[in-house]
This record gives sequence, structure tokens and C-alpha cells, in this order.
Amino acid sequence: MIIALTNSKGGVGKSTIAVHLAVWLAEQGKKVALVDSDVQGSSSVWLGEAAPTLPQIRLHTPDDVLDQLPKLVHEYDHIVVDGPAGLSEVTRAILFVADLTLLPCGPSVLDLRAATDAIRVLRQVRTIRKGPPVALLVPNKLQVQYRLSQELLETAQSLGIPASKEMRLRQAYADAVGQGTVVWKLGTKSATDAAFEIKELFEEVMTYESRTTTTASDDRSPAHV
Ligand SMILES: Nc1ncnc2c1ncn2[C@@H]1O[C@H](COP(=O)(O)OP(=O)(O)OP(=O)(O)O)[C@@H](O)[C@H]1O
Ligand SMILES: [Mg+2]
Repeated sequence: MIIALTNSKGGVGKSTIAVHLAVWLAEQGKKVALVDSDVQGSSSVWLGEAAPTLPQIRLHTPDDVLDQLPKLVHEYDHIVVDGPAGLSEVTRAILFVADLTLLPCGPSVLDLRAATDAIRVLRQVRTIRKGPPVALLVPNKLQVQYRLSQELLETAQSLGIPASKEMRLRQAYADAVGQGTVVWKLGTKSATDAAFEIKELFEEVMTYESRTTTTASDDRSPAHV
């Protein structure tokens, strides 16, 4: 299964979630690879420190994404794709082959509206692919005392995108990248809370696995691309 992290807005947590998800899946005994499609290469550098033995592949062009990703599906249980900053043809290509896409987003309706370009492209791809990819909005960087507004949930729902459990704004996420590790290996109080919340998010993400209807052998085969 291909799980992609995409959004038009930068700095929303794509690489943070991608690296943590790849490490977590590997810890669950899954055969997993990280595909870094961002030329900045931040997630591959981070993963190289956090889990050096975990396979990682860099795919930076739409052609590479469309040619290589469907082949990699046969080799791994899960491929986590870290999308590039901003909306590009690479993001579009990723959405054409992904089973599930997570859209990290700031916690307000304004942040969600700022992601409208990504949502538009998602809808275009879903129309062409007649359904996939399944999409899940991940509200990130929530301040303490701030709750997800009903309006955000309703807006997301009207766009056909359910929202997941939220991630709070926590120093531990910034510390993890600084130390080249994942939050559950940091050992601080903030990190323990972060670890609990992000693992809960991943458990939820896995429930969406069963909602993805495509497999490597159907709509991604070259005859259909
Ligand atoms: N929940 C959080 N709490 C605190 N800091 C966070 C949180 N999530 C992400 N960050 C920090 O925000 C910054 C941007 O995160 P990240 O690099 O994961 O975003 P991105 O979407 O991959 O950005 P880009 O579009 O530039 O690739 C990083 O410094 C990261 O440590
Ligand atoms: Mg990134």
C-alpha cells in the first residue's frame, strides 16, 4: 500500500509524519520503504539518522514517480511517500498512484482553506481514478486549549475528507528532527505525550487501509496509467 503525505501548503508536517510513520510501520514488523520526493531531501536525511537500515528511495520527477512507485509496491508492505513542498506535478503524480493520502494541515478553517489547491487536485485525480486515493486530513500544530472547530470538521466533511485525531504543537517534534530520531526515543515528558498521540494517529490511519480498494494489480498497472 502506498501512503502519501501531500499538501499545497509547506511546513505543515509532511516530513515529520512521513518519517515517524515509516519508522513505526517498520517497528510493527512491516516491510516498509520511504520515498522522498522532495528535492530538499529532508526526510531521507532524517530517516538515515533515525533508522539507517530502512530502505529509502528518492523520486523527484513525475515520470520517476509514475514509473517506479507501481513497481515498488510489489516489494514492500507499505511505501510512505513524503510529498514535496508546494503543489507540483510531482504531487499530482503521487496522487495518481497512492492508495491513501494524508493531508497535514493547520488546525483552523483558514489553514484548511489554504489547502484548497491540494484539495482541488485531489478531487481531479479522484474523478479520473474513479475513487482513490482515500484522503485523511491530519490537523497538526494545535495549541493547548484549542479544540478543532466544528466548522473545520464540517468543511472537511463537505470536501469529502474526514479529519483524523489531531497532533498538538509540541517541542518534541522539533527536537526529534534536531536529534535525528523519533519522538518515542527521546524520553522527555513532552516526547512521551507526542509519542502517544502520533501512535494513536497511526493506529487510526491503519483503519483506513481496509477502505482502500485498489491494489498494485488493478488501476496502477501500465495498461491503465
Ligand atoms: N506538531 C508539531 N509541533 C511542533 N513542531 C512541529 C509539529 N509538526 C511539525 N513541526 C515542525 O514544523 C516544521 C515543519 O515540519 P515538516 O518539515 O514536517 O513540514 P513539511 O510539510 O514537510 O514542510 P515542507 O513543505 O517544507 O517540506 C519542522 O520544523 C517540524 O519540526
Ligand atoms: Mg517536507
